[in-house]
Amino acid sequence: MRKKIAAANWKMNLTLQQGEALLDGLLAQSYQLQPHQEVVVAVPFPYLTMAVQKLQQVPQFYVAAQNCYTKASGAYTGEVSVDILQSVGVQHIVIGHSERREYFQESNQFLAEKVDAILAKGATPIFCCGEPLPVREANEQNAFVAKQLQESLYHLSAEAIQKVVIAYEPIWAIGTGKTATSAQAQEIHAFLRSELAGKYGAAIADNISILYGGSVKANNAIELFSQPDVDGGLVGGASLIVEEFAAIIKALP
Ligand code: 13P
Repeated sequence: MRKKIAAANWKMNLTLQQGEALLDGLLAQSYQLQPHQEVVVAVPFPYLTMAVQKLQQVPQFYVAAQNCYTKASGAYTGEVSVDILQSVGVQHIVIGHSERREYFQESNQFLAEKVDAILAKGATPIFCCGEPLPVREANEQNAFVAKQLQESLYHLSAEAIQKVVIAYEPIWAIGTGKTATSAQAQEIHAFLRSELAGKYGAAIADNISILYGGSVKANNAIELFSQPDVDGGLVGGASLIVEEFAAIIKALP
């Protein structure tokens, strides 16, 4: 059975002290996670060690970085490699968030290199894709996301693709309070899975977790996560509030 994942993306929010308090608050709740369920918390780089220390003894809770660079080491001032992340105990890395694509000009081709760098070290990429509003309004979202998969992931072997977690995040739903309806989410998740099945076969596509992101909240998580092809969420704003994210974790199917 593929994993169901509640992933927090703190983005560039919270001080260290606020982040510690948020993790303490989350850990004060009881979750009774089943073996196929996981919680991932993507924190700013300077908080990774703190978060690893707090979560490393907690079964099925993992710390993620929000980005990485493609090279292992060297003269790349300001960048952070997969090796560096692993040396502080991090094995999950979010890549290709629409904010990085937009503000830092990350292309599908560059993300293909990041995927390779992460998988080469045995870590887990959480690969984000999703269309902007004009593409959705023109009803061209399927072709748009299919191209993102093709250009960043389809060079991978059947074995490697199963180690990737995909997060579909329609840009028009991020931070806007406008969630895709559960039917819209299911429709495009099913499309993504059928694309993966076309390339790798249905059995492999069935193993790949596809998370939904974009204004996931405590009050819509159960409805979204109950869709057959929605395998949890990548959560921004609501992941900064203990009660909200705890409820989202508890909404995992
Ligand atoms: P919001 O949940 O704030 O809409 O953000 C979604 C997101 O971008 C998660 O990566």
